[in-house]
Amino acid sequence: MSLKEQFGKDVLLTGWGHSKFGKLTDETLESLIVQVSAEAIRNSGFEPRDIDEIYLGQFNSGMQPLGFTSSLALQLSEDLANVPATRTENACASGSAAFQQGVKAVLAGTARNVLVIGAEKMTDAGADVVGAALLGASYEMAGKASTTGFTGLFAEVAKHYEKRYGAGIERSGFARAGLSDILGSIAAKNHHNGMDNPYAQMHRDFGEEFCRTVSEKNPMVAEPLRRTDCSPVSDGAAAVVLSLGPASGATTEPVRLAGFGHANDFFPAERRDPTEFAATRVSWERALGMAGVGIDGLDFAEVHDCFTIAELIMYEAMGLTPRGEGSRAVQEGWVYKDGRLPVNVSGGLKAKGHPVGATGVSQHVIAAMQLTGTAGAMQLPGARRGAVQNMGGVGIANYVSILEAV
Ligand code: COA
Repeated sequence: MSLKEQFGKDVLLTGWGHSKFGKLTDETLESLIVQVSAEAIRNSGFEPRDIDEIYLGQFNSGMQPLGFTSSLALQLSEDLANVPATRTENACASGSAAFQQGVKAVLAGTARNVLVIGAEKMTDAGADVVGAALLGASYEMAGKASTTGFTGLFAEVAKHYEKRYGAGIERSGFARAGLSDILGSIAAKNHHNGMDNPYAQMHRDFGEEFCRTVSEKNPMVAEPLRRTDCSPVSDGAAAVVLSLGPASGATTEPVRLAGFGHANDFFPAERRDPTEFAATRVSWERALGMAGVGIDGLDFAEVHDCFTIAELIMYEAMGLTPRGEGSRAVQEGWVYKDGRLPVNVSGGLKAKGHPVGATGVSQHVIAAMQLTGTAGAMQLPGARRGAVQNMGGVGIANYVSILEAV
């Protein structure tokens, strides 16, 4: 069932903008928001006066002193005066939270055009402040001291996964590989892909050997996760205009939202199986179900690889492999650019960077580029339908969108 069949209308992505990701010392949160908003509105063919509502995804949690940022996009134009603007916060999925609120405003008929922005400025603060802010997304660790930060939480996930499934990763017919090697391969894949992404923070094709090996240049952050198993700390922003219909001056074809899903899990770790992102799986089922397609109907997916172990478990949560067999997707080449479901052709959070509130919107922008044939060196031939998956916390706030070429 399509959105049109279910709600009587389509939601289109009519324009988008994306800043470079990285340590952007010359930019402020405001300048990033204004830059991507201007680009998205200009590319949509609409004018600022056509925007009926604004949603801004930003996590913050203490990384910026300004804690009230919903009105920053209004700085773009006098014509945005009095436009309702709201900030959404759902940890690292704050950007997708903004996206889905925008979708619902269009579906509800309260807005014809919604400007959705995701933004984060993480590098102004010291590493200790950023670490503490990110740990605000953990039920157990919020407000507590930690030397390994959020990496430590996903390292625990990896340890549980290895204990339960580690043996299954060594399969006949494939070069000997343990979980650590599989994670290294995922890192190497995404760093390789990131070379083609002009917006990416990291343009370094480290290769399998480097990513699989602990070294001075690739130290262990929290066993078994090395530096190359982590997404970096980043600044950046992205924006999308959601519309009922296209404008005549648009720079590209629009992209149609075919389905979306959102599911939150219980917050305490003791209420979740650490080896399964159960609510993430539900968000996939909801989005694919609404779009009326299976995983085989996708040409690509941009998924939330905040740490390489997250991408591995994602292969299972999205239904690409049974539980405990995600390594097959790597070993058999399915998730590479020329595989049956290319995953993170943009370089993912791993190489593109992870300015947390911006990430969900960035993923939608990259997918829209793929579906309009405007992804440049990242372009996959014949991409007609793709998925975007964004996650807050350790599988807590989960969002999936299915997008289609028009
Ligand atoms: N992957 C690969 N290389 C990285 C990297 C990463 N994630 N982060 C930094 N580097 C590189 C830098 O480019 C730099 O290279 P150079 O020496 O050749 O110039 C080098 O490593 C040192 O950079 P630095 O910033 O000092 O690294 P760091 O050790 O302070 O930080 C991490 C590395 C992994 C600890 C940090 O990026 C981190 O905490 N990431 C996780 C962020 C997070 O939790 N996000 C939320 C997820 S839910």
